[in-house]
Amino acid sequence: MTKTQIEIGEMTPVEARQELEQLAAEIERHNRLYHTEDNPEISDGDFDALMRRNKAIEERFPEQISVDTPSNRVGAQASPDFAPISHAIPMLSLENVFSREEMTDWLNNRLKALGIPENASVAMTSELKLDGVSLSLRYENRHLTYAATRGNGQVGEDVTANARTIIGIPHELPSDAPDILEVRGEVIMPRETFLALNESGAAGRVFKNPRNAAAGSLRQKDPSKTAQRGLVFLPHGFGELSGRIFGSWSEILHELRRWGFGTGTDWKQATIWKTTGTIDEIMSYFDTALANRPDLPFDIDGMVVKFDSLADREGLGQVSRTPRWGIAQKFPAERCITRLNAIDIQVGRTGRITPVARLEPITVGGVVVSNATLHNEDHITTLDLREGDLVILQRAGDVIPQIVGLSDANPGHDERAAFAFPTECPSCGSAVIRADGEADAYCEGSLHCPAQMLERLVHIAGRDALDIDGLGEKIIAEFLTENMLHAPADIFRIINYRPSLISREGWGQASTDKLLKSIEAARRTTVDRALYALGIRHFGRSATKAVARAWGDIDAVLAMIENMQIVRSATYDQALGKGADPEAADAAAMKAVAEVVAIPDIGPVVLRNLLDFFSDVDNRLRAKELFDQLELTALQKVVVTNSPVTGKTVVFTGSLETMTREGAKAQAEKLGAKVSGSISKKTDILVAGPGAGSKLQKAKDIGTIEILDEQGWHSLVG
Ligand code: IVH
Repeated sequence: MTKTQIEIGEMTPVEARQELEQLAAEIERHNRLYHTEDNPEISDGDFDALMRRNKAIEERFPEQISVDTPSNRVGAQASPDFAPISHAIPMLSLENVFSREEMTDWLNNRLKALGIPENASVAMTSELKLDGVSLSLRYENRHLTYAATRGNGQVGEDVTANARTIIGIPHELPSDAPDILEVRGEVIMPRETFLALNESGAAGRVFKNPRNAAAGSLRQKDPSKTAQRGLVFLPHGFGELSGRIFGSWSEILHELRRWGFGTGTDWKQATIWKTTGTIDEIMSYFDTALANRPDLPFDIDGMVVKFDSLADREGLGQVSRTPRWGIAQKFPAERCITRLNAIDIQVGRTGRITPVARLEPITVGGVVVSNATLHNEDHITTLDLREGDLVILQRAGDVIPQIVGLSDANPGHDERAAFAFPTECPSCGSAVIRADGEADAYCEGSLHCPAQMLERLVHIAGRDALDIDGLGEKIIAEFLTENMLHAPADIFRIINYRPSLISREGWGQASTDKLLKSIEAARRTTVDRALYALGIRHFGRSATKAVARAWGDIDAVLAMIENMQIVRSATYDQALGKGADPEAADAAAMKAVAEVVAIPDIGPVVLRNLLDFFSDVDNRLRAKELFDQLELTALQKVVVTNSPVTGKTVVFTGSLETMTREGAKAQAEKLGAKVSGSISKKTDILVAGPGAGSKLQKAKDIGTIEILDEQGWHSLVG
């Protein structure tokens, strides 16, 4: 979700790279939660927002696009728990329309492509859009040879043994069935089965909706478990087909039913699809489906309309990942009105402060809803939500219900107090900080906030930080519950618990000592990793490396931070004195800090997070306590001794367009040059940007100074 909200237009390349790294990890995590664990944490809409931001950053910084960017991936990679299977014909997805008008346009556009007059009646099927997981079944010589999930559309997972236990999937086909036949369809869990499964606790977890339950049950390692879940397969398409000629999809569907696909329930199959020709018929099918939706035994989320004639389908073809012969129209989100009893504040594992609506429980879209996320402060202010209000609750096709506004009838609103967003973290009492331009507020007590402790410790032990082999999330969570860990430095005191660790179930001496050994080994690390371990927002691997390289050992780093605090508060006070408002004063202060720091690409955003972190006294203590446990090596400062400008005196003037002044200065110094502010006989090079004035003239007058424009400078230093 919106964790990082630097304006993309103001981002530096390093910030872009850092955020792309974070987004890739986050997207991968949500992909895994959705596709592999069937346990999504965010709505489809929020997921799309992550993908959009990733794309927008990549568009501005194409050079930062990683080879395995999430932009190029569709759906999930196949899980290693199941063997991969390549689909003989890719499993496509469908485009969506959202209204009768769009459906009409779509239909007319396709008719035109086929040379058929507008609004003519042509054979189409309208079908329920089943809310489950798609599955491809391959039959060779009338035997089921494999069943594969969709995966990324090209490669899916082999779930054959599980599929054999599902209602509506025949194992053998009669002699008139084709030699090669791939049947595609949806595996669904009937709503009643879903409710009973959650109630019984038999799955060992609670599924959010029938779709996730179907996905989770289909992907069991033990087929006998799948067999107990009451899954049903309903066919909605085909892949490879040879050995028999068909003219239309309805003909195929008719045969599929006869061969046993989608049968075995007492549902009336006629409700599932219908041949419809004109737009009126299609839309009347949609209205009926919407009206019948609550009474159906399974979840649907819209309708799918397809050209019936296979010749028409051939004529229309497909574009990239979607066929041109089919379209989906999703149902509008379901809405209802309920009371907002209270607004609670939750602190996430990353310190993000999220307001949560506590609602008078109500059934919407077939589920009882009593909580809804309110996202952030602006969401509450924009909707003017107050505790006690009657609100409109919406549940779209995805997992998280949303409050979309106040009810028109909402007596007593004006008398109720507006919601006051907290300024202190409810978990640890630290300041809650919302940076300029960011939507989310964060608890500043990163290293001592109980709500964040697990995430922080996992980060500290992680590969890019202290890299403690064997100390993963599961063990850290156990150690936290058992009160062995309270703060980062406690990791290095785990050794005191050696006797009790050895006697833990399944541990013994060897495993205990292995873990303790890797903890001891992690003490010897570098300054940049120690800084990265603190988990400061936007202060990622490249930024921590850059500052460690520039500032030296850990004492120098801490001294630099103190210096920056002084510059920040002095400039801030001065700006306030001149009448600036606090926000503008802090912006000026951070600009001054960035100028003093003068490390390319380490801008005010990174530095502000670093300083905010260290201005929390508990963070500072816990960070120092951690550093005391470590044996830190400084990174080598990189100074080039044989560059074309080593030993030369350089002056920059004019308004530089391709680099910042601090960046240019830092680069020159790194290459061994001395940077001066004024022209003298000692000056060797003048880099003059547009609008250069007296300095340029003076350099020309002296006559021995090499005068370069920015391009010239870049070609000189590479
Ligand atoms: S036809 C080219 N028909 O919806 C894909 N799909 O959004 C052909 N779905 O991946 C799919 N009900 O899993 C088709 N009656 C129906 C469907 C249906 C549900 C799913 C299917 C597909 C997804 C596309």
